[in-house]
Amino acid sequence: MDLRYCPVRNIQNLYRKDFLYTLTFLLILFSFPLFLGYLDYFQPRFIFQILPSYHNLKRGTCDYSKGKWVPDDGTDLLGSYNENCPFLDPGFKCHRNGRKDDGYLKWRWQPDNCSVPRFNATDFLERSKNGRIVFAGDSIGRNQWESLVCMLSQAISNHTNIYEENGNPITKHKGYLSIRFNDYNLTVEYYRVPFLVIVDRPPHNSTNQIQSTVRVDQLHWRSKQWSGANVLIFNAGHWWNEDKTIKMGCYFQEGGKINTTMNVKEAFWKTLQTWRSWIIQNTHPDNSYIFFRSYSPTHYRQVKVEGKWDEGGHCDTSTLPENNYTKLNTEPWNNIFIYKTIEMMKDVKRNIQFLNITYLTEFRNDGHPSVHREPGTPIPSPQDCSHWCLPGVPDTWNKLLYAHLLSKDYRTKKRKNV
Ligand SMILES: *[C@@H]1O[C@H](CO)[C@@H](O)[C@H](O)[C@H]1NC(C)=O
Ligand SMILES: *[C@@H]1O[C@H](CO)[C@@H](O)[C@H](O)[C@H]1NC(C)=O
Ligand SMILES: *[C@@H]1O[C@H](CO)[C@@H](O)[C@H](O)[C@H]1NC(C)=O
Ligand SMILES: *[C@@H]1O[C@H](CO)[C@@H](O)[C@H](O)[C@H]1NC(C)=O
Ligand SMILES: *[C@@H]1O[C@H](CO)[C@@H](O)[C@H](O)[C@H]1NC(C)=O
Ligand SMILES: *[C@@H]1O[C@H](CO)[C@@H](O)[C@H](O)[C@H]1NC(C)=O
Ligand SMILES: *[C@@H]1O[C@H](CO)[C@@H](O)[C@H](O)[C@H]1NC(C)=O
Ligand SMILES: *[C@@H]1O[C@H](CO)[C@@H](O)[C@H](O)[C@H]1NC(C)=O
Repeated sequence: MDLRYCPVRNIQNLYRKDFLYTLTFLLILFSFPLFLGYLDYFQPRFIFQILPSYHNLKRGTCDYSKGKWVPDDGTDLLGSYNENCPFLDPGFKCHRNGRKDDGYLKWRWQPDNCSVPRFNATDFLERSKNGRIVFAGDSIGRNQWESLVCMLSQAISNHTNIYEENGNPITKHKGYLSIRFNDYNLTVEYYRVPFLVIVDRPPHNSTNQIQSTVRVDQLHWRSKQWSGANVLIFNAGHWWNEDKTIKMGCYFQEGGKINTTMNVKEAFWKTLQTWRSWIIQNTHPDNSYIFFRSYSPTHYRQVKVEGKWDEGGHCDTSTLPENNYTKLNTEPWNNIFIYKTIEMMKDVKRNIQFLNITYLTEFRNDGHPSVHREPGTPIPSPQDCSHWCLPGVPDTWNKLLYAHLLSKDYRTKKRKNV
């Protein structure tokens, strides 16, 4: 996946990856017509059930971020899908890639003082009619996007009516993908913008040490396509560190000039302020529901301390969620910056929510692909303890997304007065 280096010029490794993606792309391309014919067969039909309703969800009052993971009794089938979902990256299909245990699928997030409403894909789709749901961020955002597409597709029996608008395969990792739910005239889109702002070539007269720039005062040029979306889910975090920027020759640029003394935190803060101005100028108060998802923790455990992806950190021995609270990390600085930025927008009359999934995700060291990475990954390769197996943990993030939307009375079309 794409969590390693600031892009543009650089790094042989990337070319190797590109080659792999191209290969996968071609493979999928050739098998796609064949595959499509079988989708109906693969998808279990949407199951209507008589389920208890939840009366304890007081609108807007529940803090979903704090709670505990409890064993799932398996009755919550709405929105559950399996690895046959055609909108999954090969790298997220852990069982197909050799993972044997499935305990990681059998936990449910239980907030302290309320319950998460049951995910109702039909309801979500109906509320989203004629709308657009946009994810913008890094590959963990893509993880969450694929999860939501699969969850929603459970409500539709004829999968011929769900497709990528431009005919692109799910393995396309550059630019954007837009899955159309034709029955509902809805698109669920993903834009790959790991820094949210523009990543560019350095200005002409730059020194050799500068390979690329992150332009903290220019939101990504694809942001043009985000205007008018009904639900926007942003994320950022995994690229905002020295290893993937300054140490790789990727510096920060502001006002057309490289600023070699600007550090990662300052650059992230400036980027968030650029994001904030964009939101104020490009979204409507009544017709957009904006989320910034919090940091998704990684679990590169080493023998004694938290490790890094490139230093042999591992998560393949985890088959149970963490239950020792002392092993949880402290609040990531990214979250505090994001939270503060959203606080600054209190008076701008926008529906903005900090989707705080960090704490609940911290426990889930058991949910990563680890060694069960995308087919064709060279051996040995670092384990993937950043992304998530699907189905898996991001499904819970999307249940919370749905819960927040419900509490905000989300609907894309104006409701008749009752
Ligand atoms: C996110 O939620 C956790 C758990 O409730 C909490 O400890 C943390 O302070 C929250 N983060 C922010 C930035 O609000
Ligand atoms: C849950 O309710 C208890 C008692 O009212 C309160 O002390 C606690 O802070 C609440 N927890 C959350 C996460 O809101
Ligand atoms: C899901 O939502 C649809 C549409 O609002 C509704 O008809 C159906 O009863 C809901 N299903 C459950 C199990 O609540
Ligand atoms: C589909 O939704 C778009 C808005 O996203 C709207 O402009 C268009 O009229 C809708 N088409 C139909 C057939 O309702
Ligand atoms: C699914 O939808 C397509 C296009 O609308 C249609 O041609 C096909 O017959 C449908 N299949 C089933 C099983 O209903
Ligand atoms: C590069 O060029 C720009 C504009 O032409 C100028 O402002 C800047 O000082 C130059 N930087 C260096 C390192 O020469
Ligand atoms: C570079 O960025 C730092 C941190 O934001 C700032 O203090 C400094 O003034 C900037 N330098 C220039 C030349 O803009
Ligand atoms: C929890 O983890 C800490 C730090 O690794 C360790 O010292 C402690 O013994 C663990 N507690 C339990 C109950 O396993």
